[in-house]
Amino acid sequence: MKTTTYFNIGQLLTLEGVVKKDGRRITRDDLGIIENAYLVIKDGVVSATGSSKKPPKSSKNVDLKGAVVLPAFVDSHTHVTYSGSRACEFEMRSEGKTYLDIAKAGGGIISTVHATRKSSVKDLYKSTIKNIERLRSFGVGVIEAKSGYGLDVETELKQLEAIALAKKDYPYIVPTFLGAHDTPPGVGSKDARRKAYVDVIINTLLPKIAKKNLAVFCDVFLEDGYYTKEETLAILRAAKKHKLIPKIHADEFTNQEGAALAVALGAASADHLLHISKNGIEAIASSQTVATMLPGTSFNLGLPYAPAKKLIDAGACIAIASDFNPGSNACLNFQLLLTIAITQYKISVAQAITAGCYGGAKALKLEKDFGHLTKGSKALFQTYKTTNYQNLFYNYGENFLGTVFVP
Ligand code: NIG
Ligand code: FE
Repeated sequence: MKTTTYFNIGQLLTLEGVVKKDGRRITRDDLGIIENAYLVIKDGVVSATGSSKKPPKSSKNVDLKGAVVLPAFVDSHTHVTYSGSRACEFEMRSEGKTYLDIAKAGGGIISTVHATRKSSVKDLYKSTIKNIERLRSFGVGVIEAKSGYGLDVETELKQLEAIALAKKDYPYIVPTFLGAHDTPPGVGSKDARRKAYVDVIINTLLPKIAKKNLAVFCDVFLEDGYYTKEETLAILRAAKKHKLIPKIHADEFTNQEGAALAVALGAASADHLLHISKNGIEAIASSQTVATMLPGTSFNLGLPYAPAKKLIDAGACIAIASDFNPGSNACLNFQLLLTIAITQYKISVAQAITAGCYGGAKALKLEKDFGHLTKGSKALFQTYKTTNYQNLFYNYGENFLGTVFVP
């Protein structure tokens, strides 16, 4: 059996208390901070942690030279697989247009759909890998990746195949089918086109995706002008029959009672939640559905921030994810997104770290293995060349990352 001991760790954050409390109502004490620590890994799994300047006996010792060690971040909501750029939309917003104005005028998701339809699986694989490498350079270890820029059978499958190829290079990628991201372009009324496409999702795409094992989750953009509550229900009920786990882009621009719907469907997460109602907060807080906060999107679109603090106070488990995509948030600096979360949601550093590690893992149903460094968890961790974990956020915009260790 191969044992490696990482020693001379200035600070090790195990998140032991976070695991015990299932990521809810977290305080600093729950981070399980060990000073002058060591971390023992046996066959890719954490077997012991403790405090000592000298490492316990093992086959290999690695001196981490006083580094700060954390579980790798888990980014549970990304759109990393696409082609083209929408930098021009950033400038249009700076001149007064809103995200929804631009979408209605033919930009938005549909403009990425046109570029993505023209790309090959290989092109999409290359851009996925590039984005994943950039996320990893900011300490992210597990990455969810959505389709949703095809809106037809061929391109949705192409995106998921590109994600499957990327997963061969880097196994910690979790694929999500987001066929219901927008209405496909074409002739006829928007409602008629969407209705026909919902049939395609249910009767063609879901069976093909399930058969080829191309996705773990199925997501829907439930929003005024996108998918209705009835369509969301029909798609996610069909997804469940194919053993895909529901997720919802919920209550982003308007309140649609998407959070309560996510809970009723047993969704792994409800994401965005800028306009979640009181009823939605209560429903999420007393459920296993994670409330995923996407601070970069509020920051970049100049929108209000989701009520993360209210959700935490009510007892919800929250995740913080990048929502990296070409339209509403093109930032991959996960550490910076956590700083935005801390200062704008007015949550504590401990709560933000929890949401970026354990919360993200729970939103992907992976909290047994990832998002903490306790006995039995997978040894996916990150090191920082700094003296204190607080510096990651205090010195925002700097990147002290040393390495992301992969088991
Ligand atoms: O999560 N809200 C819907 N989907 C993405 C935006 C995608 C895009 O604009 O390309 C989001 O923000
Ligand atoms: Fe999204």
